[in-house]
Amino acid sequence: MKAPLSSLNLTCPVLAAPMAGGPTTPALVAAAARAGSLGFLAGGYKTPATLEQQIVAVRAQTGTFGVNLFVPNPVPVDPAEFRRYAAAVQDEAGQYGLRLDEADPVEDDDAWPEKVDLLLRDPVPAVSFTFGVPDRSVIAALKRAGTLILQTVTSLDEARLAAEAGADVLAVQALGAGGHSGTLTPQRAPADVPLPVLAAAVQDGTGLPVVAAGGLSTPAEVAAVLHGAAEAVMVGTALLRSDESGASAVHQAAVADPGRGPTVLTRAFTGRPARALPNAFTRKYGEMAPLGYPAIHHLTSGLRRASAAAGNPELVNLWAGTGYRNAGTGPAGTILAQLASAV
Ligand SMILES: Cc1cc2nc3c(=O)[nH]c(=O)nc-3n(C[C@H](O)[C@H](O)[C@H](O)COP(=O)(O)O)c2cc1C
Repeated sequence: MKAPLSSLNLTCPVLAAPMAGGPTTPALVAAAARAGSLGFLAGGYKTPATLEQQIVAVRAQTGTFGVNLFVPNPVPVDPAEFRRYAAAVQDEAGQYGLRLDEADPVEDDDAWPEKVDLLLRDPVPAVSFTFGVPDRSVIAALKRAGTLILQTVTSLDEARLAAEAGADVLAVQALGAGGHSGTLTPQRAPADVPLPVLAAAVQDGTGLPVVAAGGLSTPAEVAAVLHGAAEAVMVGTALLRSDESGASAVHQAAVADPGRGPTVLTRAFTGRPARALPNAFTRKYGEMAPLGYPAIHHLTSGLRRASAAAGNPELVNLWAGTGYRNAGTGPAGTILAQLASAV
């Protein structure tokens, strides 16, 4: 691997993507490091205190890891649209004793300043950002602290912005990726460009090293991207059923369910486009959901939690990339090594 990724002394070019909402655990990040790879703790949605505890837990096992943060890039919800959607979603909420139709929109910043402070006070080897590009002063301060900066981008235009802001490495995410799209403009559907083509365009256009992600699920797919423009790849969905995954039981079972159809891009759960397995919620609310992040995320989060706890996958955000059918079980380190085996 060429500089700057080489500074981490990785031997496995298949990295473990951050997965907020439970799937990424300190054990998963440590397992990636033991396999010579790099994993990222998912800082999104967590309190700064919980993130700090997870950093301590990983550090007890390895010094090689990253932290991922959601950068505030709010898409304020239209209040009337919010009320209409909250009233519609109440159809599902009653069975769990929830009143969503009375909810007010919550527009927060996911404790962004506090999380940045934490990473400046107690620097970690790598930090990756998604949803927005931080102010260049934040990136510069983290770099001065010795941290490698990765920025998720979904197009060449976004890659240029990230390069101007000072990112060291671009995490190029294709549309097949599981979970939220990192797009800077969730108002527009991201273009569907094949990952090797997008990675090459970003590398050519910026000269920065590229870590490519989105829909990768076989050794051959990984090798094809690594033989092109990418220094490394990153997988999320491929690790959802791993031994160290913290994905809920309903999520893991749905990923293994041969009866699920192709993944869908939906804003039904969070008001921001994300790729998920189809279920009753995406079918009923996919067309109706307004744009609005994080307000729609906060509106539905209690319902999703209640549904998962009750063992019902139909109201849960079953994030998954297009290659989910190949996601197997076993130690995460073995899965990463296997995906790298054709390189
Ligand atoms: C369950 C799940 C949660 C995710 N959470 C995050 C996150 O917190 N931050 C982030 O930058 N990307 C997140 N992603 C996207 C990944 O970083 C990565 O782009 C994606 O997993 C790659 O595509 P794949 O899932 O097809 O391998 C998530 C993906 C999944 C499947």
